[in-house]
Amino acid sequence: MRTAIVTGASSGIGEATARKLVETGYNVMLAARRKDRLETIVEELGEQAAFHATDVSSRDDQDALAAATIKRFGQIDALICNAGIMPVSLIEKGDVEDWDRMIDVNLRGVLYGINAVLPQMVERKDGHIIIISSIAALQTFPSSAVYSATKSGVRSMSDTLRKEMTAHGVRVTTIFPGGVKTELGTSIKDQSVLEMMGGAFNFEFLEPENLADSVAYVLGQPPSVCVGELMIRPTGQP
Ligand SMILES: NC(=O)c1ccc[n+]([C@@H]2O[C@H](COP(=O)([O-])OP(=O)(O)OC[C@H]3O[C@@H](n4cnc5c(N)ncnc54)[C@H](OP(=O)(O)O)[C@@H]3O)[C@@H](O)[C@H]2O)c1
Repeated sequence: MRTAIVTGASSGIGEATARKLVETGYNVMLAARRKDRLETIVEELGEQAAFHATDVSSRDDQDALAAATIKRFGQIDALICNAGIMPVSLIEKGDVEDWDRMIDVNLRGVLYGINAVLPQMVERKDGHIIIISSIAALQTFPSSAVYSATKSGVRSMSDTLRKEMTAHGVRVTTIFPGGVKTELGTSIKDQSVLEMMGGAFNFEFLEPENLADSVAYVLGQPPSVCVGELMIRPTGQP
């Protein structure tokens, strides 16, 4: 049986992806910081699922996550780098701590995750790394500067890694979601940004399950097929 690690699995896209992958026959290690939520989801999912409390911005936590996954399930076939935060604000507001947190989680968190799983994938000449970027990597909007920078940063990392891994049989995919109904926006504090976004994003968002389906599609391809990039947005999103 194949095994996947899903980071940011305590809510939203990550939770839906963990559920979908268990349904499609994967063993899944769920990772995030909110242990209580992970515990409840894993209890529901049964034997095929386990969790490891993880802060993706900690290299030690990510190394421990990989080790715990191998101990429990034997190997790591897929890593879904999904954990992310989006406390966007106008640059003039100078919310430097939020900038640092976004860089730590969205950018460093992805790199640390890759670093923790890659050696055993290269050794086995098998594996798949999926990185959840965002349409904000390609289309910026006022207040998205740092978030967009992290999401276009992971796109560059992902595409470079894909090229480096062609000789090693490891596939790498970037997924760019448009608007999805999750908790992501709850960290936005700036009222003017919330009002601006309310006006600009006045279309029906996707369900997290729509993104989980796209992850399952990418993982379901035969070994000779690498889906490099996939953009999934609501039909109504301009
Ligand atoms: N929703 C959208 O419209 C949308 C659009 C494009 C891209 N995305 C991307 O999709 C991904 C998932 O977000 P979502 O929309 O599903 O939002 P969400 O419901 O807020 O989920 C975010 C997940 O990331 C985890 N997380 C945050 N900081 C973490 C940390 N330091 N260490 C470990 N886990 C951490 C959270 O868990 P804990 O708090 O328990 O740690 C949570 O499970 C993000 O990368 C986001 O940028 C979302």
